[in-house]
Amino acid sequence: MELTNASAIVTGGAGGLGSATARRLAQRGVKVVIADVDEARGTALAREIGQGSVFVHTDILSEASIANAVAVAAGLGPLRAAVVAHGGPPPPDRGGRVISKEGTRLSLASFAHTVNVFLNSAFCVTAYAAEAMAKNEPLASNQRGVIINTASIAGFEGLPGQVPYSAAKGGVIGMMLTLARDLAPLGIRSVAIAPGTILTLAYSKIMNEQEAQAKWGATVPNPKRMGDPDEYATLALHIIENDFLNGTTIRLDGAQRF
Ligand SMILES: NC(=O)c1ccc[n+]([C@@H]2O[C@H](COP(=O)([O-])OP(=O)(O)OC[C@H]3O[C@@H](n4cnc5c(N)ncnc54)[C@H](O)[C@@H]3O)[C@@H](O)[C@H]2O)c1
Repeated sequence: MELTNASAIVTGGAGGLGSATARRLAQRGVKVVIADVDEARGTALAREIGQGSVFVHTDILSEASIANAVAVAAGLGPLRAAVVAHGGPPPPDRGGRVISKEGTRLSLASFAHTVNVFLNSAFCVTAYAAEAMAKNEPLASNQRGVIINTASIAGFEGLPGQVPYSAAKGGVIGMMLTLARDLAPLGIRSVAIAPGTILTLAYSKIMNEQEAQAKWGATVPNPKRMGDPDEYATLALHIIENDFLNGTTIRLDGAQRF
C-alpha cells in the first residue's frame, strides 16, 4: 500500500516494538501517533522521528482514550496503518498459574485484567481504526488501510504459568481471519505478528541484556539470540506495503518453541 501523505497509529508507541515501528514508519514519511501512557519516552520519540509525528497520551484500558488517539491520527492524514503493540499495568495477582505452586487459585479479576490489556484493547483499537479507515479514499486494488495486531508465540503453544496471557494472545490470533473477511468489503487488511522473545523494555526492566540473552537467547534455535525490535518493525512495514498479506498471523521467533 502506498504511504504518501498517510498517517498511522502505534499503540505502545513509546515501547520496544512500538518505537522501532514508529521509527520505520516515519522514515517512510508517515505521520505517526505514538499512543502510550509513557509521556517522557513518547514525547522524546515524537521529537526524534519528526515528520509531523505526535505523542498522544493514551490509556489502552479506556475506550474514550483509544477513540481520541485514533481521531488525532485520522486528523493528521488518511489513517492507513494501525499497529497494536502496547503492554499494560500488571494484574492484581502475581503469576498466571491457574493454581499456584502454593495452592492458591488465580482470581477471575487477574485473568480478566490481562484479557482486557491484551485482547479487549486490541479489538477496541481495531474497531476504531477500521471505522476511520473506511472513510479513506481507496488506493490501488481498492486498499484503504491495514491493521497489525501483536500476538505472541504463547498464543499458539501456551506459555507455562501464564494462562491469562496465553488466552489473550490466542484470542488475538483467533480474530485475524474473521476480521480480514469482515473488513474485506472495505478494503482493510488484518494481520498479526506473533513474536518469540525480542529484547525490549519488558525484559530490561527485570534483568540486564546479558542475563536476558543467556536465559532467552539460548532457547532460540537460529539465530541463537533474542530478536531485535527492528526485526519486528521491518516485518510490520512489509505487511503494510504488501497488499496480498491478509487474515493471518506470522511467527517471528527464530523457530523458537516454548
Ligand atoms: N518483547 C517480546 O519478547 C514480546 C513477545 C511476544 C509478544 N510481545 C507483545 O508485544 C507487545 C509490546 O511488547 P514490548 O516488548 O514492546 O513491551 P515494552 O514494555 O517495551 O512496551 C510496552 C509499551 O506499552 C506501554 N503501555 C503500558 N501500559 C499502557 C496502557 N495502559 N496504555 C497504553 N500504553 C501502555 C508502555 O508504556 C510501553 O511503552 C505486547 O503486547 C507484548 O505482549 C512482546
